[in-house]
Amino acid sequence: MPTFRSTNPARPAEVVIELPEHGEADVDVAVQRAAEAQRAWAARPVPERAEAVAAAGAVLTARKAELAELVSREAGKIRIEGGGEVQEAIDMAAFVAGQGRSAMGEVVPSEMPSKLAWTTRIPVGVVGMITPWNFPMAIPSWKIFPALLAGNGVVMKPSELAPACGVAFVDACVEAGIPADLLQVVHGGAEPAAALATHPGVGAVSFTGSVPTGRKVAAAAMAVGPKLVSLELGGKNAMVVLDDADLELVLDGALFGAFGTSGQRCTSTSRLIVQRGIAGTVIDRLVERTEALVLGDPLQPNTDIGPVITADSGRRIAAMVDAAVAEGATLATGGRLLDHVAGCEGATFVAPTILTGVKPTHTVAREEVFGPVLSVLEVDDVDEAISVVNSVEYGLSAAVYTRDINAALHAVHAIDTGITYINAPTIGAEIPLPFGGTKHTGNGFREAGARGIEQFSQIKTVYVDYSGTLQRAQIDNREDLG
Ligand code: UN1
Repeated sequence: MPTFRSTNPARPAEVVIELPEHGEADVDVAVQRAAEAQRAWAARPVPERAEAVAAAGAVLTARKAELAELVSREAGKIRIEGGGEVQEAIDMAAFVAGQGRSAMGEVVPSEMPSKLAWTTRIPVGVVGMITPWNFPMAIPSWKIFPALLAGNGVVMKPSELAPACGVAFVDACVEAGIPADLLQVVHGGAEPAAALATHPGVGAVSFTGSVPTGRKVAAAAMAVGPKLVSLELGGKNAMVVLDDADLELVLDGALFGAFGTSGQRCTSTSRLIVQRGIAGTVIDRLVERTEALVLGDPLQPNTDIGPVITADSGRRIAAMVDAAVAEGATLATGGRLLDHVAGCEGATFVAPTILTGVKPTHTVAREEVFGPVLSVLEVDDVDEAISVVNSVEYGLSAAVYTRDINAALHAVHAIDTGITYINAPTIGAEIPLPFGGTKHTGNGFREAGARGIEQFSQIKTVYVDYSGTLQRAQIDNREDLG
């Protein structure tokens, strides 16, 4: 069987793991195994499944340092981000475990005497998951834990750029007592992904990644029969800064939002929409702070920014910056690829980049960059800012910085995104609330939160009539009653 290797983006010569490249037949075996194990799993009471998820959380807690380091080694995240990533999976386990002892449906009073009416959730069977490299443990936790709670088996295909994290996450679940056959992992790129999405034994497909791939996955999945397909796609997230905003808070938020995880989050801030009067000050201070950021080995404690995931990714980002300048933007700082960072032989770094004079029509203001590039757009007032926020095809996350409560709440109401922050950056969602976006960012499902289970289960509506007589619904009973 052919194999592939994932490497450390900070030292590409260092192999993190070598894995088989799976094909259609391997995916088929994985789905069959998961389906078989799922029957016994679904028979277990929900609180018992929840206990297994809690146990997985305990194993993740015990192994946190080791797993966090693996995230840094394989995804290039800095230390505190690697730790935050594993903590998010731990928090998700706690949340889902609690959900196992909470309401899972609704009970309504029946229209008729001696009759009960309620809903419950039933599993879809096997869930196929296609997960990205940039949150290689947190995103599997958003998907795997609710899918298990709902009574499903799982076949996951982690990104071929960070598969060791997916393997380690699943190993932790198995160590905690979740049946190994229930949690299958397949490896490789487009071939196993397509096989998984189109497998007739897969009842739901959950995908996080880019818009073009998401569309392909969804179309392929739906072509073989109705399935639940949930898509979590890109973002073009904006931070709006009004002229009364707290400047220091703005600088901290913009740096964290734009350059955290080297800008490689779907929630990364890629547009800074600033009111004209303070734009000059904001840009000057931001450039100064940006140029002080330390690029380096993600595992060194003083590193602010790690490498980008691959050399190809670096080249793509640099080309977008060049194109922005060609379209009329000004490079205020960054815009360069750095390939000689100390201790990171062969790695590709993108110097954190700020482009000014960007217009809403420029490509860099419309398309996802997925790199440390912040475009500054100037506007006259809050309404123009909102219309610029809403002028893109994406609708994931937005932030508004102001001390004016009326302007803030007006923006919350008018901005078309799944997540809106006030005086906090566009990244850093908390798992008890739904995560997801509007427009081309997704197809309406949300991850995490109490509704995170919806993409992995179907609703069953139940009526129980204990009157012993035929009570006719949808018949005008009032006439019968005289
Ligand atoms: C992603 O980047 O693919 O809120 C999703 C945040 C992160 C986003 C994860 N948890 O910034």
